[in-house]
Amino acid sequence: MTTDQAGGLQPFYSMEINALARGLEAEGRDICFLEQGQPAAPPAPKVIEAVRAVLDGPQPYTHFAGLPALRAGLADYYATQHGVTVGRDSIIATMGSSAGFILAFLGGFAAGATIAVTRPGYPAYLNTLHGMGYRTVEIPVTAADGWRLTAAAIEAAYLAEKFDGLLFASPANPTGAAVTREQLGEIVAVCAKLGIRFISDEIYHGLDYRGPSVSALEFTRDAIIINSFSKYYCMTGWRIGWMVLPDDVLRRTQILQQNLFIAAPTLSQIAAIAALGERDYAEEQKAHYAANRPLLTGGLRALGMPVDESDGAFYAYADVSRFTNDSLGFCKDLLQVAGVAATPGIDFDRVNGHRFVRFSYAGSKQTMETALQRMRGFLAR
Ligand SMILES: Cc1ncc(COP(=O)(O)O)c(C=O)c1O
Repeated sequence: MTTDQAGGLQPFYSMEINALARGLEAEGRDICFLEQGQPAAPPAPKVIEAVRAVLDGPQPYTHFAGLPALRAGLADYYATQHGVTVGRDSIIATMGSSAGFILAFLGGFAAGATIAVTRPGYPAYLNTLHGMGYRTVEIPVTAADGWRLTAAAIEAAYLAEKFDGLLFASPANPTGAAVTREQLGEIVAVCAKLGIRFISDEIYHGLDYRGPSVSALEFTRDAIIINSFSKYYCMTGWRIGWMVLPDDVLRRTQILQQNLFIAAPTLSQIAAIAALGERDYAEEQKAHYAANRPLLTGGLRALGMPVDESDGAFYAYADVSRFTNDSLGFCKDLLQVAGVAATPGIDFDRVNGHRFVRFSYAGSKQTMETALQRMRGFLAR
């Protein structure tokens, strides 16, 4: 489908490349999957055990906001990890953070409101907002600034064109950039000063390599917090996440949840309760990503693709301008010729993304090594 046929939406290229890669794999090709941010490991064994134990019983809808035990576990998580008290009634379990975005936009903003996001940024932000009739403002972040958003950039963008909300992730996708505690405090403060509602996408929390993750909740109770079990807990396909909501939008968002989704999937909620107790397992996975990080980043640099080591998440957003001015064509060739799946930068940045490619290092060390070796041959052609 072209962008025009899709009414201004752009395909989610990471998923399109994944579909092409899976097609090649079905034909017998060996593929290195570096295009999606998917942990190679399964969830912790106790997560699987918890689900097995209830499989024979009924699986009714849960409370619309999620099982009380899950919300209690999440409240404990905020107390333990962030030192903040969150009432379990302020929490809604969602079908991944993706459903959290829909609820945040509809619950927190009037129809047609304007939401700011960074460029580059996670593709579903723009596509979901545009698909739902919201307007967007893009705030550029650059390699020169470590891809980090600043309060000054937010204020400058706001003065140029006003917006009602800011949706921001730290660590970020595709760059892995993470702001410091101080910078996050400044971002929260500038949003309060300008009357902008802050949506904090904290999906990569736990995957900061430079220190503990800092939640916006440590600074404010006015932000909408979105998080997920997908990444840190290795549960992408379970489609389970959560939100923490400020009082003024809580009731409206609860009603939307009841009507749009009824409740998050019951089995995945049971799995999520167990996952919260398995942070040691999650840390073991993080140690693998931390080892892959210099391997992939250094390997890409040696191939002639400048890239910084990311602060968090598991991505390398590499400059491929030495080889191409068409990142989508480059990724398609790389897949076809070398069997390496990667995501073109145009997924994240419709202006400059033709010069970048995102590689995920969430896979195994072996996958990183094979991919680098294959790319060496591909680029030497
Ligand atoms: C920044 C960011 N937010 C949200 C998501 C969606 O995650 P979920 O699986 O929780 O819907 C992703 C997935 O890659 C992401 O990178």
